[in-house]
Amino acid sequence: MIRKLTVLTAIFLIAAMHLIAQEGTIIRIGTKSNDLVYKVGKDMRLYQSYLGTKLVNEQSIKAIPVQEHLAYATFGTDNLFEPAIRITHNDGNPSLELHYVTSQVEKLNDNVTITHIKLKDPQYPVDVTLHIKSYFIENVVEQWVEITHQEKKPVTVFNYASSMLHFDASHYWLTQFHGDWAEEMRMQESELTSGTKILDSKLGTRAHMYQTPVFFLSLNNKSDENNGELIAGTLGWSGNFQLVFEVDEKGSLRVVSGINPFASEYSLVPGKSFITPSFIYTFSNKGKGEASRNLHRWAIKYGIMDGNKPRYTLLNNWETTFFNFNEQKLSGLFEDTKKLGVDLFLLDDGWFGNKYPRNGDNAGLGDWQENKAKLPNGIGSLIKEADKTGVKFGIWIEPEMVNPKSELYEQHPDWILKLPNRPENYYRNQLVLDLTNPQVQDFVYKLVDDMLQKHPEIAFFKWDCNRMMTNSYSSYLKNQQSHLYIVYVNSLYKVLDRIRLKYPHLPMMLCSGGGGRVDYGALKYFTEFWASDNTDPFERIFIQWGYSNFFPSISVCNHITSWGKQSLKFRTDVAMMGKMGYDIQVNEFTPDELKFSQDAVNTYKRINDIIWHGDLYRLISPYEENRAVLMYVSENKSKAILFSYSMHVRFNENFGKVRMQGLDAEKTYKIEEINKFPGSRGFFRESGKSFTGDYLMKVGLEVSPGSALTSTVLEITE
Ligand code: DGJ
Repeated sequence: MIRKLTVLTAIFLIAAMHLIAQEGTIIRIGTKSNDLVYKVGKDMRLYQSYLGTKLVNEQSIKAIPVQEHLAYATFGTDNLFEPAIRITHNDGNPSLELHYVTSQVEKLNDNVTITHIKLKDPQYPVDVTLHIKSYFIENVVEQWVEITHQEKKPVTVFNYASSMLHFDASHYWLTQFHGDWAEEMRMQESELTSGTKILDSKLGTRAHMYQTPVFFLSLNNKSDENNGELIAGTLGWSGNFQLVFEVDEKGSLRVVSGINPFASEYSLVPGKSFITPSFIYTFSNKGKGEASRNLHRWAIKYGIMDGNKPRYTLLNNWETTFFNFNEQKLSGLFEDTKKLGVDLFLLDDGWFGNKYPRNGDNAGLGDWQENKAKLPNGIGSLIKEADKTGVKFGIWIEPEMVNPKSELYEQHPDWILKLPNRPENYYRNQLVLDLTNPQVQDFVYKLVDDMLQKHPEIAFFKWDCNRMMTNSYSSYLKNQQSHLYIVYVNSLYKVLDRIRLKYPHLPMMLCSGGGGRVDYGALKYFTEFWASDNTDPFERIFIQWGYSNFFPSISVCNHITSWGKQSLKFRTDVAMMGKMGYDIQVNEFTPDELKFSQDAVNTYKRINDIIWHGDLYRLISPYEENRAVLMYVSENKSKAILFSYSMHVRFNENFGKVRMQGLDAEKTYKIEEINKFPGSRGFFRESGKSFTGDYLMKVGLEVSPGSALTSTVLEITE
């Protein structure tokens, strides 16, 4: 996380430096459409004066009153509300006071600027630097904080938010996303009332599962897709997070985002830095749709690994074989991969362990040698066989975990997180390795590195993480157990940094027993994530809808499986709305189903760039009607793909017309229904006709079939 400055940047920094410690200093952080303004008060504290739609001239900026909204509120002096930071100095003084020192602007390129604002305690040698990185075109802001000190002994840091933001509105509407295994991203909206509402998690190895580190916050009125002032925010951290929303006695709201300080006081050594993860957000005055598109554009360019590169389509074997496979079965699956026309075969869990074979989830985890009974000729021969068949080969690992029934457990009991004097506590029959220990970091790194050294043809990894921390204690951290949650995640990032240094572009899917590790802290190392083990397309529409608010489609892996009773077409149409893959018995397809799927793969390969890199418009929400309609529009507005899913089970339902969005009113578009099942005329009666963008966006078309559980995909071409 330490950012090195080039000589050129350093020269620029000096040029852009504000006068030191001057009352009345204004710091304006502008993006194309928004402004964030800080002012230094008479008391030399830094205040947030404005956050919202761009102010058109300097006079407006000057006119904004300083306001009593501390940019990074401390604890111990006169702050009576939630602090951003709390420290006890090594003389026992539990207070911190922060005064403005300097601010510097570092321009990384035409689009990206970082403003570094240095604050200092006037009595104690403690420095806090607020880093605010703004992405001009995307209207996205990333904030993180660096805490250092020069006291004689360590200070204890109890709270260390990534950012504190203030709002003054008549009402605040919070949209949050919660869930569980197979129920990810359920959306709820409620009005914030006086007092504090906290969204957080305490799971250790992952951020979300029950609560998700993402939210919309609408000001004054509820927002919809096209109207309303709101921020969309998320924390880039793969562990415990905390989002605090506190409405005070005057009706002002402060939002404090960061690592969850729960059971995590941090002893900071003099001269060392505590660097928080980033809080990432965008402000929109045009509703949730625009906020999502801002985040998607940002994520594709800056937030996820290789966001602007293509992805592999694949066939996975988890749902069809579970742990029960051998070389012969896999050869058949390579053939199926080829037959379908997808790029890659992904071998899931169950390929390893000999003393304790991985024939179920109760043994073998940690012993990463090919299971001799299932794979007597090893991975190398599988890769050769896949290659002969003409498909790429990918493989599943879960490197941070161990089964008690494993050689790893027997050989390295000290590598495992477990409490002394208490029984081990299992979840999916497994324990978490102590990644804070550098030896364990090496073990995890070497697992990936050795596999790739031995088999450079491995084209894809699925990195799983099937449990959270319970009964956890690190024998490596000794008397610093309260560092565990933080150091674990930073150690994971260290390992991933090493892997990415050596293998910068290897596609990797992030998985966590379904979708439990979906955050931009991890996604900068991963090309995609597994959204949920629930692949029933009906459920999946809601799950994918939820993720689509914050994460671009290119990162969301959707597989066609045998979950759900809907037609293969319906399941395929749902999976297409993201990174499509298969996990299904291809050899049980009827000839028509096979033909349909082969055509669907070809169609997907033809249109996927629009889905992966286009702008998403959510037209009809499944939370509001018995259907969902979404469309993706290419950047130059010459192509669009519309998906409509009818989600009722009645004989018929008459849906109204849908007005499209994001097209060019002046252009004429031809509309064709695609992805039809062999022999079907399709559902869209106006297929093949042309309309102006103006008509499509103002009058609209009937795009949703009335009959139960049916779907349409429309290709819209200039
Ligand atoms: C949980 C994942 O979500 C599944 O896709 C599968 O990889 C299993 N783990 C394997 O154990």
